[in-house]
Amino acid sequence: MSPEDQHHHSDHVSVNPLFARPGEDSVASKYHLEDDGMLPETAYQIVHDETMLDGNARLNLATFVSTWMDPHAEKLYAESFDKNMIDKDEYPQTAAIETYGWRILADLWNAPEPEKALGTSTVGSSEACMLAGLAFKRRWQHARRAAGRPTDRPNLVMSSAVQVCWEKFCNYWDVEARYVPITEEHKTLDGHDLASFVDENTIGVVAILGVTYTGMYEPVEKISAALDAIQAVSGLDVPIHVDGASGAMIAPFLQPDLVWDFRLPRVHSVSTSGHKYGLVYPGLGWVVWRSAEYLPEDLVFRVSYLGGEMPTFALNFSRPGAQVLLQFYLFLRLGRSGYTAVQQAAQDVALYLSSGIAKIPAFELWNDGSDIPVFAWRLREGYTENWTLYDLSDRLRARGWLVPAYPMPDSLSNLTVQRIVVRNGMSMDLAASLLEVVEEETAALDRLPGPLPHVVEKSAFHH
Ligand SMILES: Cc1ncc(COP(=O)(O)O)c(C=O)c1O
Repeated sequence: MSPEDQHHHSDHVSVNPLFARPGEDSVASKYHLEDDGMLPETAYQIVHDETMLDGNARLNLATFVSTWMDPHAEKLYAESFDKNMIDKDEYPQTAAIETYGWRILADLWNAPEPEKALGTSTVGSSEACMLAGLAFKRRWQHARRAAGRPTDRPNLVMSSAVQVCWEKFCNYWDVEARYVPITEEHKTLDGHDLASFVDENTIGVVAILGVTYTGMYEPVEKISAALDAIQAVSGLDVPIHVDGASGAMIAPFLQPDLVWDFRLPRVHSVSTSGHKYGLVYPGLGWVVWRSAEYLPEDLVFRVSYLGGEMPTFALNFSRPGAQVLLQFYLFLRLGRSGYTAVQQAAQDVALYLSSGIAKIPAFELWNDGSDIPVFAWRLREGYTENWTLYDLSDRLRARGWLVPAYPMPDSLSNLTVQRIVVRNGMSMDLAASLLEVVEEETAALDRLPGPLPHVVEKSAFHH
C-alpha cells in the first residue's frame, strides 16, 4: 500500500462506521464541558439520537403549540434564524413587519381606531400577559397616586382556571391574585358574584378566551356587563384584559358575531399566542392595547431605529425575529378565508372526536370543542373503581398518542378530566385512528377483573 493509499485508508477508518468514532464510543459528557470537541457529524448524531425518545410532536395532543408549517414557511424560517428582533436599526424591515403584525391584529380584534392602537410581539402569551398586567398595575398606581390613595395592595381578579402565567404575574410583581372559583354551575368566569371579588384595589379582570383546562370561552360580554353594574353602584371603573392565547385566533374566524374584543369599551388589551392558533412555530405572542392611553408611557423604553428611536415594551432584550416574519407570511398566505378554512377543519375534527368519545359509555363530555377546537371529558360518575383516566392516558401513550389527564383547578380538584387539543395537521384520518385506539384501550380497561394497583405517583400536568 502506498503512503497515500494508507492515508486514505486511515481517513476512511476514522470516519466509518459512524457509531465507532471517538465520541460515539463513550457516554457523552453532560454535566461539564470536555477539553476537546468532536466531529460535527458525531455531535449532531448524539443530540439527534437523544431526542428520539421525545414524544412525536404531531401526536402530542396535549399542546396548543404549532407542530406543522408548510415548506415555504420552513424556507423563510431557515433564511431568518439569525434575525434578532431587538436590532430594529439593523433590521428595519423585520421591525416594520412586526408593526404590520400587531396592526393586523388590532383590526382583526375590532379596535375602533386601529391606527391608534399600540402593540408588540413577544416570546409567547406568558410575556404578553405579563406586559398587559404591568400596564394595568402601572395605570392603577398612577390613578391612585393622583387621587392621594395608597398603592400597596393591588389585586387582579380572574377565574381559578387561569393559565399559570397569571399566577406568575401576581407572584413576580406583588399583586394579590383573586381567584373566582369555577364550579359545575359556573364552568367559567361568567360575571357571577364578581362584586364580592372586585374593590378599589383591583387593577383589572382577566377574561380567558379559550380556558386552558377545557377550551371553553369565558363570556367576556357578560363579564363586562357585570363590571358595568359594579361601576353603577360603586363608581369603580375596572378594565378587562382578554387572554386570548388560543381563542383570539379562533373567534374572529369561527364565531365572528361573538362580542369579546375591542368592541367592548372595557377591554383595554388583548393577547394571543402566534404559536398556537396563529399557526406559527414556537415562540411568538402578541399583545395589543386599544390605544396609547392604556399603555403608560413610563413603561416604554426606546431603542435606536433608522437614526431615530423606536418604542419597545418587552421583558427580554434579544429574541428571535424569525417567527414574526412567519406570522406575516401566514397572514398573506391565508388571509381571512384561509384562516377560516384551517380553523374550521380543526373544529370539524374536534367535533368528530368529541361525538365519538361521548358515545363510549365510560365517558361524559365536559365540553365538545365548539368554542376552540379543544375539549375535555371525565369518567362517568360511579362507572368503575377499576381504572382512571390516568390509566387510559398511559395506555394511549404506549400506542404513541399523548393525551393528558389532570385534575381540574382547586375548587374542582377532585374531578379528573382528559383533554384533546386539535391543531392544524391533525387530519380527519389521524383522528379516526385515534378514536379507534381510544375505543380499544377503553374496552381493554373495561375487561379488568379488579382495580389496577397504582404504584407510581402521577406527575402533575402543567398547563
Ligand atoms: C389561556 C392561556 N394563557 C396563557 C398561556 C401561556 O401561553 P404561552 O405558552 O404562549 O406562554 C396559555 C398556554 O397554554 C393559555 O392557554
